[in-house]
Amino acid sequence: MKVVGVGCGPGMLTAEAARVIAGASLVYGSARAIALARDAISPGCEVHEITDYRSLRSLPDDAVVLSTGDPMLAGLGYLPGEVVPGISSLQVAFARLKIPLAKAAVVSAHGKDHSRAVAEAGGEVLAGRVVFLIADPAFDVGAFAAALPPRIRLAVCENLGYPEERIAVGTAAEPPAPRDDLFVVVAGEFQDPGTGAARPAAALSFFRRS
Ligand SMILES: C[S@@+](CC[C@H](N)C(=O)[O-])C[C@H]1O[C@@H](n2cnc3c(N)ncnc32)[C@H](O)[C@@H]1O
Repeated sequence: MKVVGVGCGPGMLTAEAARVIAGASLVYGSARAIALARDAISPGCEVHEITDYRSLRSLPDDAVVLSTGDPMLAGLGYLPGEVVPGISSLQVAFARLKIPLAKAAVVSAHGKDHSRAVAEAGGEVLAGRVVFLIADPAFDVGAFAAALPPRIRLAVCENLGYPEERIAVGTAAEPPAPRDDLFVVVAGEFQDPGTGAARPAAALSFFRRS
């Protein structure tokens, strides 16, 4: 089996990923992963939307499993077989915010205990890291913000790479609220790329990718 990262949004499939997908006769993925890889899937390829993630370990050797973003970032990279990397939501969020990846501390709250993730993220922020928090639709950004010092900058990055992408930058005192289910949260001391302010400003700034 091969686990192929398809990027976190449209147009982010690498040439290597497209080549592996084009050579596959059996493909599995979530509806979103299949949509992102659709143009690379060969006619006649058997495509299955994943309904039971527990059954993936027993797929045949020639199966290609699509994983959104990069398989090794809270993705399907735990499955047996080769992993083909993809462009992750971490890379895209940090590129939009112009934060060096060397400052990142990754915390996953996706399908996990949110209060533990908030406590872990708070510790990383206090240690001077910029937290990249993988959320799920139920994640409460307000509760996370309340656990941070008020002047810490906090950004909600939604639908990265999609036409409806939205990056909202605020502070822990005035956190932006997500408007959609697909979002990550970035928190720490970083410049607001919208205003260039080195320290968090009181007002929120919003900008869109051009
Ligand atoms: C199961 S994790 C998979 C992450 C993926 N492997 C990656 O590399 O980005 C799903 C979570 O990743 C984040 N995510 C993935 N794609 C995103 C996107 N295009 N925009 C914003 N957040 C995204 C969201 O927090 C979502 O709930």
